[in-house]
Amino acid sequence: MSADIPVITVDGPGGAGKGELCLRLSKMYGFTILDSGAIYRVLAYAALKHQVSLADEPSLVKLAGELRLSFEPRDSGVAVMLDGEDVSRGVRNEETGGAASKIAALPGVRAALLDRQKAFRTAPGLVADGRDMGTVVFPDAPVKIFLDASPEERARRRVKQLESQGKAADYDKILAEIRERDNRDRNRAAAPLKPAPDALLLDSTELSIQEVVDTALAFAAKKLKPLS
Ligand code: DC
Repeated sequence: MSADIPVITVDGPGGAGKGELCLRLSKMYGFTILDSGAIYRVLAYAALKHQVSLADEPSLVKLAGELRLSFEPRDSGVAVMLDGEDVSRGVRNEETGGAASKIAALPGVRAALLDRQKAFRTAPGLVADGRDMGTVVFPDAPVKIFLDASPEERARRRVKQLESQGKAADYDKILAEIRERDNRDRNRAAAPLKPAPDALLLDSTELSIQEVVDTALAFAAKKLKPLS
């Protein structure tokens, strides 16, 4: 039964370091990863491509039901596929991220994507990355982590990441976008970004990734069967 399959949920705002933490946890435990943000991003990408308004809930719900989405492992990471096309790069830009945050506020859209997310719970276990993994999608998960960081620190990390890719980055603009997205994700009525009552709260603002990973692993070790 899927309820017996362990899940580690990692929720928090964008740029707090969830992706890296999930990767390390998944390697440690041999679990697969659900990048739930990528699902919202693919739907947003499809909506922009098909010129569906980001406020047209019925059409977005229909599009969510028809979405031919898959994740394929590659040497360089995981490719996000839509209708057989690799859209990994397209879904990662700021425009798609902002659009994803807008459609993610619509309750019908969230409901339409729920079963798709739950289906990732397969043996031997799952690391689920998102905003509502511990509160809504996997409320019975034995290990829940909420990873936060200040908006300024997240903006600095994003600037560094863009610059390392040889792209121009405007700190003030990125900080404003982060604040706008946070505001929407934390204050929406449907599944707002917030820690589950039983989540470990971790603030990575002044922690190295290794410190975050060590703290999360020590917490998980108390709740999960030992690694064989
Ligand atoms: O994690 P991300 O930046 O890829 O997510 C993009 C947007 O999708 C984010 O601003 C809010 C939304 N999202 C959500 O509402 N619930 C999730 N579980 C994951 C993402």
